[in-house]
Amino acid sequence: MDRLADGPLPVQIGPGAQATRPQVLDAVSGAAAAVTLLTDSVDSEFFDSAGPQLKVVANLAVGFDNVDLAEAATRSVIVTNTPDVLTESTADLTIGLLLAVERRIVEADAFLRSGAPWRWEPRWMLGRDLGGLQLGIVGYGRIGQAVARRATAFGMNVVALQGKSATAAGVATMELDQLLATSDVVSLHCPLTPQTHHLIGGSELRAMKRGAVLINTSRGPLIDEAALVAALSERRIAGAGLDVFEYEPALTDGLTALPNTVLTPHLGSAGVQTRDAMALLAADNVLAVLAGETPLTQVTAT
Ligand code: DGY
Repeated sequence: MDRLADGPLPVQIGPGAQATRPQVLDAVSGAAAAVTLLTDSVDSEFFDSAGPQLKVVANLAVGFDNVDLAEAATRSVIVTNTPDVLTESTADLTIGLLLAVERRIVEADAFLRSGAPWRWEPRWMLGRDLGGLQLGIVGYGRIGQAVARRATAFGMNVVALQGKSATAAGVATMELDQLLATSDVVSLHCPLTPQTHHLIGGSELRAMKRGAVLINTSRGPLIDEAALVAALSERRIAGAGLDVFEYEPALTDGLTALPNTVLTPHLGSAGVQTRDAMALLAADNVLAVLAGETPLTQVTAT
């Protein structure tokens, strides 16, 4: 922190309530560095408010679809993210959602809390054992691979969508249509780009195995959520575990009424050690840029 000792004090928002857009724009005004959240749109309005002295935007997330990289480049602002430090935490939550859906943990918890009489019957509240199920991983990067390690320990058969990382890792790979048609569980781990928007829409949901489960801890718009609600309502697929949503923070109509879903509010990286590590990485990136050094994890447009 010594390197900042003579500089201006950082402008802070919070802790507590989520900052409003006007508060964010006000806070970055005149700043040399901004640490942003995945809920902040870092766009031309943001850069205009910040002003020409802004040198770095350190996004507190591995995903950076909230940042307009072209606009940042035009304004010579360096953008960084927080990869690696949240890989295991996000993979943990993915498996948590998978278990919660397959073993009906939330439904069972609601049953007990409802005050209904205790039940134990050999054929009641049954779910699927994970062992022997095929898990299709779409996006075999760091988080996809961490999910694969955990799934393998549960006895699942892991396959991945064809791609460079999957080939390099030596996992069995498939084209999307085959992966959807044969997997009992499909888990999404791709970044959000124009190419992955609505990667899973109505026809992909129809291509999934009847009784399959869909898990998403990456970005909501990968799934056409209206089509998902229809597929779940009609029981074409058996369930979904979602940590991210197409219109975050809004949820598509009908989603919360479905019993066969487990929904969490974008908690993939929400482990104490992970969030600490993300904050430190973002701070190190800021300090490096302000000191004229190369940041640890710079993001560049591809
Ligand atoms: C990220 O960092 O992009 C994750 O979505 C956080 O959970």
